[in-house]
Amino acid sequence: MNLKNRKVLITGGDKGIGKELTKIFIKKGASHIAIMSRSLTGLSELKKEYPDVNLLGVKGDMSVTEDLKKLIAEIQQSWGSFDILINNAGVISAGDFESISDEDVVNMIQVNLTGAILLTKYSLPLLLKSDAPAVMNISSGLGLIGMPFYGVYAATKAGLKQFSDSLRREYAPHNLNVICVYPTATDTDMMTSSGRENMDSPAMVAQESVAALERGEINIVFGGLQREKDALFNFAHPEKMDESIAKKYDDLKKSTQNHRAM
Ligand SMILES: NC(=O)c1ccc[n+]([C@@H]2O[C@H](COP(=O)([O-])OP(=O)(O)OC[C@H]3O[C@@H](n4cnc5c(N)ncnc54)[C@H](OP(=O)(O)O)[C@@H]3O)[C@@H](O)[C@H]2O)c1
Repeated sequence: MNLKNRKVLITGGDKGIGKELTKIFIKKGASHIAIMSRSLTGLSELKKEYPDVNLLGVKGDMSVTEDLKKLIAEIQQSWGSFDILINNAGVISAGDFESISDEDVVNMIQVNLTGAILLTKYSLPLLLKSDAPAVMNISSGLGLIGMPFYGVYAATKAGLKQFSDSLRREYAPHNLNVICVYPTATDTDMMTSSGRENMDSPAMVAQESVAALERGEINIVFGGLQREKDALFNFAHPEKMDESIAKKYDDLKKSTQNHRAM
């Protein structure tokens, strides 16, 4: 897929992995980029760095259906159509399952999964006007292998995986390219409260993800070949994976207690 002169919508495109995705699409020659987040914190910096790019910032909340409808209406009015939707915005609340507040459970599902699905639904009429329509969903390694203390987050990310495969198969007659990205721990604000070290850089994750999109790949799994092997092993032998995770139980419990970015 050639990215020159493409019109791209990136949720959460002003921070973390999303911001790096924005920069790479600009470097690859995208002509129009729309970014949606609640605060648009990083938008002014992006505008300063790339004054010649048509950067449209729309404030909105992925958990508010009306905001998603307004976003697409604004893109329709300004651009008429677009080529690439990136469902990147995400939130996380980890720790003991029963201790996660009801609000965090509902919000994680709304932002990470329901919002991404509804935004895709509203985007399709505009995307399908493109000669090369594409959707990129940012899942997580936890969408491939469910880990203790990340049950709700993992459920939203596994949901994105199945949504991606189903959507691509349903819209195959329209040549809709759907790619799902599975980052492992990546050094962004989302991970500040996790205490993790030695993380992937968001720039690398974004660069490799866009390269995979250009090559027409369906999945990109970070964390090396071993992560892909682990995912297959997890499906074939879940009881053996249980045993291996049980050995790290106390460490996992301790390290996830304060991990929250909502
Ligand atoms: N970092 C990791 O280790 C990692 C690993 C695997 C997968 N991922 C996934 O990668 C994606 C990007 O994460 P990141 O690490 O780059 O996180 P980040 O730096 O915290 O950025 C998240 C972005 O999403 C936006 N956002 C959050 N809630 C929103 C809402 N309700 N409505 C609209 N926008 C919202 C944020 O802006 P506002 O706060 O202003 O709304 C921000 O722009 C997420 O889907 C995440 O689950 C991350």
